[in-house]
Amino acid sequence: MGGSSKRHQTERLHVQQGDMADPAVRRAGELLREGHLVAFPTETVYGLGADATHAEAVAGIFQAKGRPHSDPLIVHLASAEALPAVAASIPPLAVRLAKQFWPGPLTLILPRAEQIPPVVAAGGTTVGVRVPGHAVALALLRVAGVPVAAPSANRFMHTSPTTAAHVLADLDGRIDAVLDAGPCAIGVESTVLDVTVSPPRVLRPGGVTLEALRLVAPDVVGPEQSEASKLASADPVARAPGQMERHYAPRTRLIVFDAHGAGALAAMRAEAEAALARGERVGALLADEEAEALAGVPVTVARLGSNTNLVEISRRLYAALRELDELGLDVIVAHTFGMEGMGLALWDRLRRAASGEMRGV
Ligand code: TXA
Ligand code: MG
Repeated sequence: MGGSSKRHQTERLHVQQGDMADPAVRRAGELLREGHLVAFPTETVYGLGADATHAEAVAGIFQAKGRPHSDPLIVHLASAEALPAVAASIPPLAVRLAKQFWPGPLTLILPRAEQIPPVVAAGGTTVGVRVPGHAVALALLRVAGVPVAAPSANRFMHTSPTTAAHVLADLDGRIDAVLDAGPCAIGVESTVLDVTVSPPRVLRPGGVTLEALRLVAPDVVGPEQSEASKLASADPVARAPGQMERHYAPRTRLIVFDAHGAGALAAMRAEAEAALARGERVGALLADEEAEALAGVPVTVARLGSNTNLVEISRRLYAALRELDELGLDVIVAHTFGMEGMGLALWDRLRRAASGEMRGV
């Protein structure tokens, strides 16, 4: 791998029919097979892919993102049948979860197979694996014919990309290609579930809800309980991975009120008015139904969609954060959406985007 000055001509590959015969998909697959870096769409966010069996190609991911090697990558497969190539053993619970949730936004942490080089897994003995629920991603994985390691295709610590334009904003000239298939449907990353421990533990809430997981595995430990037990864990990889408090973050200061409804909106209004009185420029993230809540206060509102549909909110969250971030505002105010269903993943991402700090109302 070259030095950090290494430049790439980033190819923009526009998906047409989105199957294995699509010229863009074929080109992207060929690049992956040759050890190059290709960003591709999934149902959650765009990933930055490399052949997971090719240590040098995988090292390129860390270099392009500016990501520390201590943060392990998720390996993407075209189907659960390919699991034995990446996992040293597959517990029966993993088989049941894969049947229920794959293709889809669930990453399972499993014992790592020898064919997967340590660089993928931050040197640890486990590996994260998922089969993405996106036709173009699946076609690409089939054409590539190799397991594909892929973190979110953003610069380290920045907001995850949900469009090809977001990918290019962060990585143009640093990667070989981006496969463009339009915006992602879910918009926040997969749920990461460690099934190497008993009971299984959610390391990151995401596109598969805790409620849905518990229908298959009733004893799943939620992320708050996991946070506490992580500190007690002996495995450094289990303690560290991607769990930095400041993550998914815009450049602009973000103030999140950990509440929703009238109280949260009143707190956002008061905060906005105080900032405006200091001469600051203010943005706000609001659900469609709340768009009038800051009427008369000169703030820039980014709408997230209906608060009766939290998937709509999650689909919009990162794009809305990026839109406000580009305006060079002084502060953005936001609120959470409860802890149920997709509310938990939204809560987690909003908290991290606010550097781990939230305010009560
Ligand atoms: O939806 C997603 O998961 C997207 C798309 C592209 O698949 N990928 C993604 O990757 O979000 P990334 O690298 O941004 O986040 C992966 C998360 C990190 O928090 C990482 O620490 C955790 O999964 N992870 C990966 N392998 C792990 C392992 N072996 N043990 C514990 N955590 C792991
Ligand atoms: Mg990421």
